[in-house]
Amino acid sequence: MAEYETLRWVGDAATGSLRLIDQTLLPEEYRELDCRTVQQVWEAIRVLRVRGAPAIGVSAAYGVVLALQGLRQSAMAQFRQGLSECCQLLAGSRPTAVNLFWALERMQRSVESMRAGSSAELHEELLAEASRIDAEDRGMCLAIGEHGARLLQSGMNVLTHCNAGGLATAGDGTALSVIFAAARAGRQLHVFADETRPLLQGARLTAWELQQRGIPVTVICDNMAAQVMREGRVDLVIVGADRIAANGDAANKIGTYGVAVLAKHHGIPFCVAAPSSTFDLSLETGAGIPIEQRSADEITMGFGRRTVPLGVDVYNPAFDVTPAELIHALITERGVIRNPSREAVLEHFR
Ligand code: MRU
Repeated sequence: MAEYETLRWVGDAATGSLRLIDQTLLPEEYRELDCRTVQQVWEAIRVLRVRGAPAIGVSAAYGVVLALQGLRQSAMAQFRQGLSECCQLLAGSRPTAVNLFWALERMQRSVESMRAGSSAELHEELLAEASRIDAEDRGMCLAIGEHGARLLQSGMNVLTHCNAGGLATAGDGTALSVIFAAARAGRQLHVFADETRPLLQGARLTAWELQQRGIPVTVICDNMAAQVMREGRVDLVIVGADRIAANGDAANKIGTYGVAVLAKHHGIPFCVAAPSSTFDLSLETGAGIPIEQRSADEITMGFGRRTVPLGVDVYNPAFDVTPAELIHALITERGVIRNPSREAVLEHFR
């Protein structure tokens, strides 16, 4: 098990706080941050102190609890108004990971039917629901790991992009949970971690997590994946996802689509691991997934140094969509969907 906990609620509903690892500081510094206001949670999500689709959802759920701490003694109408306002605020933090909206909807629904009781009682229920979302996420990570581990044999070299590990969830991660489960079962694996420009989640976070767990990892720049595949050094690719449409198209960190195309060309299975909270069955295809556009500074001034001449245009989409036809398998907490299609995805969740 990991020695680090990406996020957790500390204390009771009335006065507690959300403790997060500040991931912007890794790997140089391991520091935890106590979020005591919803604005702090919004900012932490926005600037990627906490990131990864499931972790964003769980953090937002606790953010709702923080937002309403000051309204426990208020009239019910005011409390419900506060709930709707803080959900709107948090929903504006990042657009692509559907887990954020899924968690906020669950929080709102959990107290919708409670007509009797006080604001303080509703608030207690909100913490209970956030804790359930947190615990379920941990359980889903473990189940994804167990299902996916069957695809991995000893001696395999696995390539991953971005960070879909414990740092991206409340539990053990999605793509990395598969690797952790196979390692627990005694299989010897080696991982290639794409560094993942521009924010280097692969180099900074995936490499850190794998090192913490004693799993051999080699970091490569994103533009090296083709060469490493051509050298025959990759047996399987596994990544996470931020939103998966009903037909299996999967949005994930920018660069994932390119890796999938490369994997197809080299005949390497490309797998996506994600919990059911990452599926957006309201979208027919990935074309409807909103792609977050981030600040040009992440490219021109990444990590504090100017690397692009002043005044030059920059395009910085944070995610891309991999079409289902490039995906060998989707791994969820319920099992494995091979050759995903609309029919297979809907059947899986029936
Ligand atoms: O911008 P980020 O770091 O939040 O992007 C994270 C990813 O793209 C992950 O691969 C995805 O959220 C899956 S996390 C289990």
